[in-house]
Parts: sequence; C-alpha cells; structure tokens
Amino acid sequence: MNSKTSLPRIGEGIVMDIGTGDGRYVSAAARADPNKFFIGIDANVKPLEKPSMRATRKPNKGGLPNAMFVQAAVEFLPEEFAGVADEIHIHFPWGSLLKAVATGDGVILNSLRGIAAENCLLEIVIGVDSERDATELSRLDVPILSDGYFRNTLASRYNAAGFETVDIRQLSRDEWSKIETSWARKLSSGSTRLVTMLVFRAN
Ligand SMILES: C[S@@+](CC[C@H](N)C(=O)[O-])C[C@H]1O[C@@H](n2cnc3c(N)ncnc32)[C@H](O)[C@@H]1O
Repeated sequence: MNSKTSLPRIGEGIVMDIGTGDGRYVSAAARADPNKFFIGIDANVKPLEKPSMRATRKPNKGGLPNAMFVQAAVEFLPEEFAGVADEIHIHFPWGSLLKAVATGDGVILNSLRGIAAENCLLEIVIGVDSERDATELSRLDVPILSDGYFRNTLASRYNAAGFETVDIRQLSRDEWSKIETSWARKLSSGSTRLVTMLVFRAN
C-alpha cells in the first residue's frame, strides 16, 4: 500500500497475506520493511513457487529472510498460525476466497479471528466490476456489493466475529493502482470496477 493512502498506522509484527497469488505484495513489503515477517498464503501452489525460491536466496542475491510462502486454503489454515498475525491482508480475493470475505462466512471469519493476535488489523480490498464479473458473482452467490451492504450487512458479520470496524471506503483509481498487486495491474483502465477497502481490528 502506498504511503499516500490513508491506511491506519500498522504496528510491528507478523503480516499474513491470504490469497497472495504471485506474492508481489509480500515480496515488496518484506523488502521495504525488514522489521516485520511476511507470510504469503495461497490455495494454489503454482504461483508461490517463484517468489518462494527467490525469498530463499542469500540476501545479497535478492533473498528475503523475513518472507515465506505457504500453500493453504483460507478454509484450512494451519493450526500453527493460531493467534500469531498482527496484520492480515486479503487483496483482490477471487473464487471461494471472495465468496468467504464478501458474504462474511461465519466459519471463515472465526478462522481469521483464530489466527489474529490481539489488536490484529484485517485489511481486505475487494475489486469487482458488476458487469464484467456478473457471471462469477452469480456463480459464487455473492450479493450486490453496494456501499450500504459493506457498511451495514457485511460489517456487522465481521463485528460479530470479533473484528471491530476501523474504516470502510471506496479507493480511488489513483489509490488502488498503487497497491502492490499483479491482479490490479491487469485490470483494464476502462473498467467500471469498484474497489472497496475494509479495515477491521480484532477485539
Ligand atoms: C485475483 S488473485 C489476487 C492475488 C493477489 N492478492 C494480488 O492482488 O495480485 C486471487 C487469489 O486468491 C487465491 N484463492 C482463491 N480462493 C482461495 C482460498 N479459498 N484460499 C486461499 N487462497 C485462495 C487464488 O489462488 C488467487 O491467487
């Protein structure tokens, strides 16, 4: 996330990026902040291979001793993660991950709460284009993602799972295009995609 965006200040510690894809966010953030430890998690092992190999190189060859990548689905997070995350990021979720976070699936929210340390920040960035993504959204049975839905219906599900609302707002193109994400870089400039950031704190 670029420093120009008004994210809340985030503390030191362990940062998990769920649905990390090719790990772009984890690799960039780990390089920028050696005092935090970054864990990229994805259900799909293939995109994790390259960043994982790169991270294990010697530091003078571009290695990242403060980053690691783990294959795991959000539905089956390793029990070793219990209570350890100081930050959880979920950027541009898709498929079952999008369904879980955009509908506030109680089992998944409890699982996210389970890996959260005290005061853990949970930052979710959802970007959907209601026209282009209509088929996938309908297949996933995701409701219309309006501002009112995010602020009222969805936020209350997170609140009930032990995450208090810190901030829910739409990101401008200028803001979301600066997020370290391979996915957002692929999004077409003519798209009517709405990108919403939801930030919660474990209480
Ligand atoms: C659109 S990509 C976004 C990748 C990355 N966060 C980015 O911004 O470039 C969505 C990612 O979510 C992962 N994913 C989908 N369902 C998942 C699940 N149930 N658990 C974990 N990861 C999942 C996919 O494998 C994919 O890498």
